[in-house]
Amino acid sequence: MGPDNRAPWWQDCVFYQVYPRSFADSSGDGVGDLDGVTAHLDYLRELGVDALWLNPVMVSPMADHGYDVADPRAIDPLFGDLAGLDRLVAASHERGIRLTMDLVPNHTSSAHPWFVEALGSAPGSRERERYIFRDGRGPDGAQAPNNWISVFGGPAWTRVPDGQWYLHLFDVQQPDLNWDNPEVMADFETTLRFWLDRGVDGFRIDVSHGMAKPPGLPDMPVTDIKLLTHQDDDPRFNRPGVHAIHRAIRRVVDDYPGAVSVGEVWVHDNAQFAAYIRPDELHLAFNFRLLQAEFDAGEIRDAIENSLAAVASVAGTPTWALENHDVQRSVTRYGDGAAGLARARAMALVLLALPGTVFVYNGQELGLPEVELPDAALQDPVWERSGHTERGRDGCRVPLPWSGDTPPFGFSDDPDTWLPMPSDWAPLAVEHQASDPDSTLSLYRRALEIRRERAGFGERLEWLPAPEGAVVFRRGTLICVVNTGSQPVALPEGARLLSSGPLTGAELAPNTAAWLSG
Ligand code: NOJ
Repeated sequence: MGPDNRAPWWQDCVFYQVYPRSFADSSGDGVGDLDGVTAHLDYLRELGVDALWLNPVMVSPMADHGYDVADPRAIDPLFGDLAGLDRLVAASHERGIRLTMDLVPNHTSSAHPWFVEALGSAPGSRERERYIFRDGRGPDGAQAPNNWISVFGGPAWTRVPDGQWYLHLFDVQQPDLNWDNPEVMADFETTLRFWLDRGVDGFRIDVSHGMAKPPGLPDMPVTDIKLLTHQDDDPRFNRPGVHAIHRAIRRVVDDYPGAVSVGEVWVHDNAQFAAYIRPDELHLAFNFRLLQAEFDAGEIRDAIENSLAAVASVAGTPTWALENHDVQRSVTRYGDGAAGLARARAMALVLLALPGTVFVYNGQELGLPEVELPDAALQDPVWERSGHTERGRDGCRVPLPWSGDTPPFGFSDDPDTWLPMPSDWAPLAVEHQASDPDSTLSLYRRALEIRRERAGFGERLEWLPAPEGAVVFRRGTLICVVNTGSQPVALPEGARLLSSGPLTGAELAPNTAAWLSG
């Protein structure tokens, strides 16, 4: 047999992001779990996705819903156990679906045994060296070591009883690890191998542009910035030392042929972004430009061009997403109501026509909108840390409706779901949409089917002349057109394959996209 010249699977695939708390509850406690995912794998196979990304399911006090990990090599009982994970891996593989997990190398939970030991040990001890402890400023060290703020709001430093301070770029319960300490990478390697040895197909790596901290921890030039955001020159992130960490991670992952690493890289500059996916670093990095673009022809085209350019210099794979568990649902972002839904459906056809790897967030295929939750229901630490000025990310994390006419819509046997489900979601439930050929679910299923069958979607994306307000591009024989304007536009020549709304005559209505074969 000759060498295997096929492109790696992760260069052209559709990932489905499962937010395990909200996908399906098998245990009846109102919170989704691993067996709930396993029970719905046929739904995912029918949807036509190639791989899953599970948000963190490791042992955690859940201060940030699993991104505060207390034991990175065990499953939190809320989600099940290791046997449940093994069942999910096996059942996914039986259906030809790959399974990736989410790892959190930048920080641990404050309940992690290392941090508990650090708190019980003296300043300067080996135990404290695993985290970033510093003396404070000012005569009695009562001021934080620098002016850094937490991404979730408030200071990034908390003082401990002996007077030292520890760094947490996120919640107080998420102390940052000290990646200058070789023990940290050694432990992370153990974690990588632990899951890869169990058969998982790779990882999404949280805050992949974090981890390395600048020598001397200099002040931030500006602290008056929007929560959950930062610029490329922010000293808290994107430091040059991070690349050696990714090379060390890649050396481990390369021991497992076919395994993939996907980095969460909030870096805007194309050259700096590309550095993260050099051949010996991450396989893929999320590009968030399309997700940040308005429903506007110019912005959509710019986002696509820039995302392609971002990976071109390193011959990397472009990645695309419209939603995830940290951002507002696209239906709402694009204007809510009927127009928001129509635009989100149109953008689904843009997304699934693009070359490279696509991420679909659970519920996106149902056209779920963002939910306006009552204050008392909010759980995201951002709500408390912002002093109740930012509502946080719970509105995109509401459990999925599966069936029936009243909450919890088949998600759970317990009506008291971890976030309340809107009472008017019956028409959005999977059961209702599955039998309706015009539903958003049917649109996703059909688009994914065409994408799969026409693996011959050409490699290269080529822009075609577009009427005002529209974007038109070709990939091989597929032509995708989206109308973001307020007037109908002429449809390009070609046989009609699929449209996100009704096609009348030779025109494409506003807020609509179509796929043609030409
Ligand atoms: C990014 C994750 O996507 C987000 O949900 C989390 O709060 C932060 N990283 C901190 O781990």
